[in-house]
Amino acid sequence: MSFKPRWNKTTLILGGAAAWGLLLVGCVMADRTVIAPPKVADATFVGTKKCAQCHEDLTGHFDGATHSNLALKDSKAGDIGCEACHGAGSVHVKSGGSKGTIINPAKSPETCFACHLDKRGEFSLPNAHPVLAGKVGCADCHDPHKGKVIKRTGAELETPNETCTKCHTSQKGPFLFPHQAMQEGCTVCHNPHGTVNQKMLVARDANLCLRCHLEHPSVIAGGVLGDGKIVAGGEDHRTRLQNGTCWSAGCHEDVHGSNASKAMRY
Ligand code: HEC
Ligand code: HEC
Ligand code: HEC
Ligand code: HEC
Ligand code: HEC
Ligand code: HEC
Ligand code: HEC
Repeated sequence: MSFKPRWNKTTLILGGAAAWGLLLVGCVMADRTVIAPPKVADATFVGTKKCAQCHEDLTGHFDGATHSNLALKDSKAGDIGCEACHGAGSVHVKSGGSKGTIINPAKSPETCFACHLDKRGEFSLPNAHPVLAGKVGCADCHDPHKGKVIKRTGAELETPNETCTKCHTSQKGPFLFPHQAMQEGCTVCHNPHGTVNQKMLVARDANLCLRCHLEHPSVIAGGVLGDGKIVAGGEDHRTRLQNGTCWSAGCHEDVHGSNASKAMRY
């Protein structure tokens, strides 16, 4: 998950569709595969200003949206931010907004894959949200129109965990005995795009928990471990871990928080 290109609003200039793709990919990705905005038959770009005539609710917030940084420009139409994802809009505008005259990605990830090529691979991993099957859309977790496309705390109304708990209500809490790890967000333990592990976990074994819980009371000065103990919560866990993972060995089953026990166990 490392993808942090930054540019200013003037970096990208639209030529033909192919040149646009080349420029864009040149900036975003390491390889230079040519991509193009979604095709709408017989349509030309009209620019974001035109969309504002009828979609002010969306264009009004777009300036603060991550993807407004794309600021693709066409020599005639000017800024074509909306059309980067929806395709050229002239036919749609002329028809007064008829259905089927412009691309509505809805739950289809294809529009996003055009630029985020690597995400197709992540969602193809054995345990992933059913995005390729069209059951969950990228926009269920990322708002393309408004605010930061990755939800964070701070000015955002929606916290990172709410992105998930609107669907996964049983992990929401509040719990009598909450697990503090939840304050770091669901993504400390899950990669929602997909992983090779069960339940999209970022690690398949005790390391998931030991990242935060491993204690080394027996560390010898100089940083060398003395006796191979796996100490967590003040107790050596070596024999317990022979029975399974921290959450599947019958010990800490309520990793998200518990109403029964402080140790998060029924
Ligand atoms: C003249 C008014 C008008 C303009 C200008 C306009 N739209 Fe629309 N648009 C509409 C209306 C009305 C609908 C709703 C159609 C419906 O739901 O039946 C719509 C629907 C849409 C949809 C959903 C289409 C679907 O099939 O579900 C998208 C996407 C869209 N507009 C994007 C844009 C973009 C991008 C622009 C600028 C390039 C734009 N619109 C400019 C009136 C307009
Ligand atoms: C980063 C890609 C992206 C950009 C940029 C973008 N959109 Fe969208 N748009 C989407 C996706 C994805 C959906 C489908 C969301 C869904 O159904 O949950 C959508 C849906 C829509 C809809 C249909 C809404 C509905 O309720 O069905 C309209 C209208 C629309 N966009 C207009 C715009 C306008 C106007 C702009 C520019 C201000 C814009 N979009 C910029 C990706 C984008
Ligand atoms: C035209 C190319 C393009 C399309 C289409 C596109 N993106 Fe992006 N996306 C970018 C670029 C470029 C950035 C980096 C912007 C920046 O950092 O200012 C970005 C950033 C992001 C980020 C934030 C990355 C970070 O590290 O902060 C997310 C999440 C994201 N896009 C999701 C989506 C989703 C979901 C869609 C489809 C609805 C989509 N993108 C469609 C080009 C695109
Ligand atoms: C189930 C929720 C969910 C869905 C569905 C989802 N994402 Fe994400 N995505 C996230 C979260 C949460 C993060 C932030 C991860 C972090 O901060 O560790 C993220 C991060 C990203 C990033 C930036 C970091 C990176 O991995 O490069 C991009 C780009 C991105 N998503 C694109 C997409 C695209 C494209 C789709 C659809 C094909 C999509 N996402 C679908 C939840 C989701
Ligand atoms: C739009 C609703 C929706 C959102 C938002 C959502 N999910 Fe999911 N999630 C699903 C669906 C649907 C499945 C697949 C369930 C199935 O296959 O039975 C799923 C599956 C999962 C699973 C695997 C469950 C299992 O039994 O294998 C985990 C873990 C998960 N999601 C975590 C997250 C996290 C973390 C987030 C936030 C970044 C998130 N989800 C956001 C709908 C959602
Ligand atoms: C401390 C690590 C951790 C954090 C943080 C975490 N999870 Fe989990 N989650 C797990 C583990 C471990 C499992 C597997 C439990 C099992 O298989 O019994 C799991 C399982 C799940 C499942 C599948 C539940 C089922 O019954 O199979 C969902 C859905 C889920 N988590 C959603 C979330 C959401 C949403 C958040 C944030 C609000 C979150 N998780 C935060 C560790 C975590
Ligand atoms: C992001 C760091 C982080 C991760 C990952 C994490 N935890 Fe925690 N956990 C904490 C913090 C912080 C506390 C509260 C302080 C403490 O008791 O150590 C806590 C508390 C606990 C407690 C309660 C201890 C007590 O006596 O109150 C248990 C049990 C626990 N975690 C189990 C787990 C398990 C099992 C996993 C793996 C599925 C896990 N933790 C993953 C940070 C984490």
